[in-house]
Amino acid sequence: MEPRPGSAATGDGPQGRPTDEADALARDAADPLSPFRDRFLLPVGPDGAPAIYLAGQSLGLQPRSARAAIEAELDAWARLGIDAHFAPGRPWFTFDEPLREPMARIVGARSSEIAILNGLTVNIHLLLASFFRPTGRRRRILADGPLFPSDRHALTSHLAQRRLDPSTDLIVVGPRAGESLVSTTDLEAAIADHAADLALVFLSGVHFATGQLLDIERLTDAGHAAGAIVGWDLAHAAGNVELALHDWDVDFAAWCTYKYLNGGPGSVGAIFVHDRHGRDRSVPRLGGWWGIDPDRRFDMDGPFLPAAGAAGFEASNPPVLALAPLAASLAIFDEVGMPALRARSVALTGYLARLLQDLPVEMIAPADPAARGAQLSLRFDTAESVLERLAARGVVADVRAPDIIRVAPMPLYNTYREAWRFASLLREVLV
Ligand SMILES: Cc1ncc(COP(=O)(O)O)c(C=O)c1O
Repeated sequence: MEPRPGSAATGDGPQGRPTDEADALARDAADPLSPFRDRFLLPVGPDGAPAIYLAGQSLGLQPRSARAAIEAELDAWARLGIDAHFAPGRPWFTFDEPLREPMARIVGARSSEIAILNGLTVNIHLLLASFFRPTGRRRRILADGPLFPSDRHALTSHLAQRRLDPSTDLIVVGPRAGESLVSTTDLEAAIADHAADLALVFLSGVHFATGQLLDIERLTDAGHAAGAIVGWDLAHAAGNVELALHDWDVDFAAWCTYKYLNGGPGSVGAIFVHDRHGRDRSVPRLGGWWGIDPDRRFDMDGPFLPAAGAAGFEASNPPVLALAPLAASLAIFDEVGMPALRARSVALTGYLARLLQDLPVEMIAPADPAARGAQLSLRFDTAESVLERLAARGVVADVRAPDIIRVAPMPLYNTYREAWRFASLLREVLV
């Protein structure tokens, strides 16, 4: 909480809306999670003061503990070389394994259902190789739209590889004409309409552009009722909203760890594979030595017998230096816990949403806090130029073409005062 010079309080707003800086500071002072901000390194704005960083939905900030975590492994490499693979403490051979428990707590899974590996798109490919199994008429994929480009490329390439036609076999259900959000009932109806020919339903938990949180349990049920496998891209959901992947009976999911999970640029991705599939050795996989029983990794002629659980989807040995900062970040998540994190997120994002109601902005994120995560998506005809003017004033946010500015106050490191200040700066830019 660094009060900036010249940020005058503006008094109470209409209908008791919190437009007063003192009110924002009081909320920060009263919030038990406020001290966690000091665990992160804040980028600076053009004036040298900490930027108002609202881009955690793109790249989460660096935990202060990340550097030491990486340095510890650099040290181990320097001191021990290859022997660090089996050194006591944090042996590299199993470096990813202790991260499964905390990740499982974040997404509501058993630790056996989690593996931490590769990048998100690569993981979507691995999972599609296993779970997109078109047979006869049941060959189509249904997704919510607009699809993130990388997901679209992944889905179309798997259809093409199986000599299917993406123009007819990929069904994308987007918002109705003139609307911004996709309707759950439209998705359910489309799934039911295509029940005879769907092999896979592949949906995004929180939509990257609008911030809409889909009803994961309900849509997973709808996909199962249609006889399809149901997978989720949780890039914008993991670490953002509370999830219960195991109990919701999700078949598989993948997410990245550089957004809400603060694992660092391009950090290692994660997957969920429900135990009923993970323990089923007949599920086809793209094999590699890391996906099998550790004692058999050097069997020269041994068969590919996948390890039980999501671990059986690994192919390569863990990227230790890339996992170290993720380990540092997951420790913070474990300390806070998702229920407390989400409670603060709902309050903080709700506070910002109320401030924005007084401005001439079109908010396309759902108005219902239960139907969105931390991100608010704002539509402007001149989004790029609005963002430029905000950036000159020390705000870091991002644009998704053509006209959406995304801002996401992060419950671990953003403050009510920053939300208030952002709304004041946006007002300044717009009037
Ligand atoms: C929804 C979604 N899917 C896929 C990706 C691609 O991620 P990666 O580059 O880690 O494969 C992103 C990245 O931002 C994303 O937001």
